[in-house]
Amino acid sequence: MDPSAPKRVLLIVGGGIAAYKALELVRLFRRAGVGVRAVLTRAGAEFVTPLSLGALSEDRVFTELFSLTDEQEIGHIELSRQADLLVVAPASANLLAKAANGMADDLAATVLLATDKPVLMAPAMNVRMWLHPATVRNVDSLAGDGVRFVGPDEGAMACGEFGPGRMAEPQAIFTAAMGLLASGPVAAPPVRPLKSRRVLVTAGPTFEPIDPVRGLSNRSSGKQGYAIAEALAELGAEVTLISGPVDLPTPTAVRRVKVVTASQMLEACRAALPVDAAVMAAAVSDWRPERVADRKLKKEAGAPEIRLGVADRKLKKEAGAPEIRLVRNPDILATLSQPGPERPQLVVGFAAETDHLEEHARDKLVRKGCNWIVANDVTRPGVLGGEENVVTLLTHEGEEAWPRATKVEVARRLAERIAAALAEGSEAGDAR
Ligand code: C5P
Repeated sequence: MDPSAPKRVLLIVGGGIAAYKALELVRLFRRAGVGVRAVLTRAGAEFVTPLSLGALSEDRVFTELFSLTDEQEIGHIELSRQADLLVVAPASANLLAKAANGMADDLAATVLLATDKPVLMAPAMNVRMWLHPATVRNVDSLAGDGVRFVGPDEGAMACGEFGPGRMAEPQAIFTAAMGLLASGPVAAPPVRPLKSRRVLVTAGPTFEPIDPVRGLSNRSSGKQGYAIAEALAELGAEVTLISGPVDLPTPTAVRRVKVVTASQMLEACRAALPVDAAVMAAAVSDWRPERVADRKLKKEAGAPEIRLGVADRKLKKEAGAPEIRLVRNPDILATLSQPGPERPQLVVGFAAETDHLEEHARDKLVRKGCNWIVANDVTRPGVLGGEENVVTLLTHEGEEAWPRATKVEVARRLAERIAAALAEGSEAGDAR
């Protein structure tokens, strides 16, 4: 295939209120010079018309499997053969189920069964349908077959509920599709070395309330932890992501548990055990207010003095000022690293450092009792909150400085290392 030839996408539009967003997706592809041919399912046609899809794609729209003209001019095999990539948006629960089971009872399902091209699906359904074990199973099977997913996002749904199930935005689907088109015609065969492994990942900041409106937190974006959860799931692991408050969608095929405080995070981690590996990427607050005020602290009362256990002598206490005493939070990483029957085979901690990176990180490795520390220098530009990371992996055997890479690349590399260590550990009986 000529790599410079214009790319072509076969867009399958399933049923669901999100089908209207498929029109915007067609527009984005056309603007980028990508050819679009659309297949509209019967349910999809309840939400968008073949006329509007056809007008935007500047091509005819295919709907029926047994349409004589369609089969005469172009068969269903030919439809996928002429495309570089198949995009299913929205991918309804029904369409996912059909594709996961190799059914071929309509044109969309038949094309999906007949194709040897990469497939990208953008699921959209009610939150309960998305979380149902049958859909989880179907997504897992499809991912095992090499199907890629984008979304779903979390948010308010047309049915009035809230949660994961909203179709990813057209721009996100477009970006994912362009990535697959750029990576060439060969869909990478799925490698799932973590199949049937359970992994726990913590991510994001914690938030420790002071009063009903204020609290102590930090600027962790959660991006690295979320990317790790996604990379582990891509390798087949059953991932539980325990997340502090962040504005990120649940990664595909990952079970997310939302928490606010460090104590809640520890409790959620304990509930997720037993696991084969735990990756603690969350920026957990070391301290929390001893007491949470049940009413908003008033400024008229003067500035609160924050005392870190021992009072800072430089701070003069104002008469009548509220005083916030801080107490230590549990150390989740150290707790999970303690020897015992529930200890994961591999426990990975993170160390965000501003100076003496290796020295501090190695000290943490010993103090916390974990197997590995992923250390990053947060003074490097673009690391905090950005898309890239520069990390050093420290183990009890040695250390490796990894080159600057995107957080997604760092996550993939770490997931592969975890898969290798667990495989080795199973052979040797233990990864410790
Ligand atoms: O001690 P420090 O916060 O620098 O250690 C960072 C590592 O410890 C991270 O992996 C973080 O998730 C974990 N941690 C934890 N519970 C805490 C503090 C840190 O799990 N209370």
